[in-house]
Amino acid sequence: MPKIRVALVGVGNCASALVQGLQYYAKIEGKEFVGLRNGVLGGFCPSDIEIVAAFDIDERKVGKDLSEAIFCQPNNTPKLADVPLLNVVVYRGPVIDGLGEYTKNVVRVSAHPEANVAMILKESDSEVMLNLLPSGAVKASQWYADQALISECAFVNATPNFIASDAAWAHRFEIAGLPVVGDDLIDQVGSTTLHKTLLQLLSINGVHITETYQLDVGGGTESLDTLDRTKDLKRVIKTKSVEAALPYEAAVVAGSTDYVDFLQNRRDSYFWIKGVHFCNVPVQIDLKLSTVDAPNAGSVLLDVIRAVKVALERKAKGALVPICAYGFKHPPKFMPHETAEKMFTEFINEEA
Ligand SMILES: NC(=O)c1ccc[n+]([C@@H]2O[C@H](COP(=O)([O-])OP(=O)(O)OC[C@H]3O[C@@H](n4cnc5c(N)ncnc54)[C@H](O)[C@@H]3O)[C@@H](O)[C@H]2O)c1
Repeated sequence: MPKIRVALVGVGNCASALVQGLQYYAKIEGKEFVGLRNGVLGGFCPSDIEIVAAFDIDERKVGKDLSEAIFCQPNNTPKLADVPLLNVVVYRGPVIDGLGEYTKNVVRVSAHPEANVAMILKESDSEVMLNLLPSGAVKASQWYADQALISECAFVNATPNFIASDAAWAHRFEIAGLPVVGDDLIDQVGSTTLHKTLLQLLSINGVHITETYQLDVGGGTESLDTLDRTKDLKRVIKTKSVEAALPYEAAVVAGSTDYVDFLQNRRDSYFWIKGVHFCNVPVQIDLKLSTVDAPNAGSVLLDVIRAVKVALERKAKGALVPICAYGFKHPPKFMPHETAEKMFTEFINEEA
């Protein structure tokens, strides 16, 4: 199979888990792909994905080989695999709004001159740009989306900034004949998915939910940025998504709450569900889910990247709803989980 040539924007925790995951799954190829939703997707194995370019702003990462940069602070996701020299240098991108009030104390801006991003994308023959910038980097995400357009790359937006779900941006990619997918990646074992599934299960069984909340705390740089800049946005996205799981109105709150540095890259999510069942008798659930944040993105990222390659081969363009609805919390079109899964499978298996 041809390689899928990916440019990484932001060499943070998510990028670290992805790069390590590619090494991990390359080693076990031919055996069972334990931990992945799809071993082979659209004919592609994880080892068909190749990172060919990378951009960051932190002095501890810029100028280093990607294999070294992913383990530099403030990244704190655990080591999952040995990563050999990749011969991919991390280039310095423009900061724009990449730093917030809180993260500027944690990220150290490199003194390297800014690289010519479009030129590097062309020279490295990148075909998919993966946006892993902090969630508060609204303008920087848009700037990189522009570079993807200039350099004829498909754009995968893992951040909660609205690009694929924004009609004007989707139109620009459509005109350019390029795919765009997003926004806000869904985790493999996501608190929002778990919450929705629980509510659906209870509701199908006749339980009437009256109140429910989902709150989480994390220790990655992204949790710090969320606390500062995107708490409200994430609350809107998550609450909207959870509300859609119930066929009636209930008091729903879902969002990120705080940053707890000693958690490292762990994320603890707390769920509270209150309702009534037979003869108005009360029932309640109090749950905690503990995950490591960045590896939780890995499986869905591998699926989304491979699906975008399938789309590129078919010359599909604009915001691709089957990929967006399967892999992202804020797609251009909301639909039940099962419908999204079915649509995605049909898209992958569609005859070219
Ligand atoms: N499970 C998950 O981790 C998950 C799930 C859904 C969405 N996301 C999204 O993925 C994104 C990345 O998450 P993360 O945990 O890796 O964040 P992170 O903070 O660890 O990494 C962000 C990286 O971007 C770099 N950066 C900042 N400004 C930049 C700029 N202008 N140009 C280039 N690089 C810049 C930072 O130095 C850092 O290395 C976030 O937007 C997050 O919301 C992550």
